[in-house]
Amino acid sequence: MSHEEFPTERPAVVTCGLPYANGDLHIGHLRTYVGGDVYARALRKLGQETAFVSGSDMHGTPVAVNAEEAGVSPEEFALEWHETYEGTFPKFGVEFDNYGHTHDETNVELTTDIVRTLAENGHIYEKEIMVAYDPAEEQSLPDRYVEGTCPYCGEPARGDECDEGCGRHLEPGEIEDPRSTITGNPAEYREQTHKFFRVSAFQDYLAKFIDRLEGTPNARNQPREWIEGELRDWCITRDMDWGVDYPDEESDLVLYVWVDAPIEYVSSTKQYTDRVGADTFDWQEAWQDDGDIVHVIGRDIIQHHTVFWPAMLHGVDYTEPRAVMASGFITLNGKGFSTSRNRAVWADEYLDEGFHPDLLRYYLATNGGFQQDVDFSWERFRERVNNELVGTVGNFAYRSLLFAHREFGGTPDADLSPEVRERIEDAIDEFTAAVNDYSVRDVGEAAVSLAAFGNEYIQRHEPWHLVDEDPERAAQVLRDCVQIAKAVAVLFAPVAPGTCDRLWSQVGGEGSVHDVELDAALEPPAAEFDEPDELYEKIAEERVEELNEKLAERVAESEAAEAAEEAAESAEAPDLDPVSEERIGFEEFEELDMRVGEILEAEGIEGADKLARLVVDIGVEERQIVAGIKQLHDLDELPGTRVVVLANLEKAELFGVESNGMVLAAGEEADLLTTHGDAVPGERVR
Ligand code: MF3
Ligand code: ZN
Repeated sequence: MSHEEFPTERPAVVTCGLPYANGDLHIGHLRTYVGGDVYARALRKLGQETAFVSGSDMHGTPVAVNAEEAGVSPEEFALEWHETYEGTFPKFGVEFDNYGHTHDETNVELTTDIVRTLAENGHIYEKEIMVAYDPAEEQSLPDRYVEGTCPYCGEPARGDECDEGCGRHLEPGEIEDPRSTITGNPAEYREQTHKFFRVSAFQDYLAKFIDRLEGTPNARNQPREWIEGELRDWCITRDMDWGVDYPDEESDLVLYVWVDAPIEYVSSTKQYTDRVGADTFDWQEAWQDDGDIVHVIGRDIIQHHTVFWPAMLHGVDYTEPRAVMASGFITLNGKGFSTSRNRAVWADEYLDEGFHPDLLRYYLATNGGFQQDVDFSWERFRERVNNELVGTVGNFAYRSLLFAHREFGGTPDADLSPEVRERIEDAIDEFTAAVNDYSVRDVGEAAVSLAAFGNEYIQRHEPWHLVDEDPERAAQVLRDCVQIAKAVAVLFAPVAPGTCDRLWSQVGGEGSVHDVELDAALEPPAAEFDEPDELYEKIAEERVEELNEKLAERVAESEAAEAAEEAAESAEAPDLDPVSEERIGFEEFEELDMRVGEILEAEGIEGADKLARLVVDIGVEERQIVAGIKQLHDLDELPGTRVVVLANLEKAELFGVESNGMVLAAGEEADLLTTHGDAVPGERVR
């Protein structure tokens, strides 16, 4: 890599992807925040000047849609969630130097400024495009207001992201078979003028940037394909009220949420500088001169951080990201978290259960590599807490310090042995390498394996036998052990900040372990310290059962509620037309030649939203029939289905396809008519 190793002489900024201020946080959300916090703390341990910032993402349809559902204004809605998040993060030891939000003055000003500069530098142009529109609601349907099919992979997608398929960002107008999420109706496309950021002009820059980029490998590999392929320009405006106004024009457009959101990284750093002074941390030096910018994000937003965002930064001559750390997803007992199904362990709930935040931090930080998916289960949680935190770290620290305290009232008067000094130096090297490898897990491992060594060391030398036989040896061994405990406090502090601060004071450390750097691991511990207490407590098996039951109950409850809701919805009587006054004669009815048919083929007609081409066997012959059922039925499932066909209807041509007959169906959902018994194709219906 072309970058100088950490610690550098430059200011570093570690950022965490901004959470949308739109709902409760669960422990899945916490992974990136814990990861970012561990990483920022670890950098500081190396002596790196570091600002750790984030903020709430207030704008865009993710907030607007949920606010509408809740029946409050987006601003009120987002501010409330913002305050909740601001209170929640510190409870998990996630301590940002600044936590702002995208709707605050600093960010609105800076965003306006940056967009102006981009425009002045010729990076923005105007273009007419087709955008989704709901004619019934008479409004545009940006982003989450529209759902349909991803044009790249065919999976169901939201307006601006293929969230269940290939993960691509989708541009306005790209989604296929668009449906309004407000009314459920098929959306229309209408022409509108929008602003575009000329990302395509940054192709060469980005191709080189991605080679320089550090962090997790997924953040480099995933975007290569996009950057090396055809880079499309990026629509940066939306037709909605909630957001940052597009500067200097009378247009009603606001900026796309992904413009003002990452700019909050900069605004938040600026607010930090405003608070502590540029002598302590200079945001301009970091962002406009030469800083080490590290973005910690979820892997679903890699494209935004490795294509759009660096292009924006480059377009205004700001510092490009040095690294992007993109975390894998987190599952619960092997299945995805589901906010709507209440299938989640909520952040508050975890704390209410009385668990120390450090336990979860340890689990999230070390249960897999950062870019790997991690599964959470209460069983595994218990296992890791009991084996590693209690069994390795806690056990080592407690038995060493208790013994040293009892026999010597603190640290015995002896020199640190070369073996232990070297082992601690190795741990420091592992820690430093982990930071330079962007491996949150290895930061934790460096400390836990040192504690494991400590356990093995104390076991090997059995100081409890030595106290009588060879008190000098005993003093030596315990001197070593106290040093190891002190080193563990220092090295493990980024992962377990609360419990390590306790361990630090147990070894007689002054102030906070978070104010010392790695070299403190080798500084002599205090000659005297108090009797220690245990750092971690075992989790009983019954707790796991209890917690699993609670979770299962909750999921069942919300699934039942959902099913009831669906049933109620489908039971709702449709608006029925009155029966026609006009009667017809039997002969007239006899004129309708209706036949039993069997669908042989069904496929969508290209370019038509609703139409499908069917081939139907009506016994006497095969018919090609066009039916308006494309969105209402799974076409692949239709072959083999018995239907009723009006066979002597006039032929028609729809979208250039001849329709020879009509398939009968009932109601809005085109419920297909079929036969009750085993009438074969071709038989007449009377
Ligand atoms: N709110 C976005 C999300 O949850 C992330 C924004 S990150 C930033 O997907 F880069 F825009 F800041
Ligand atoms: Zn896709």
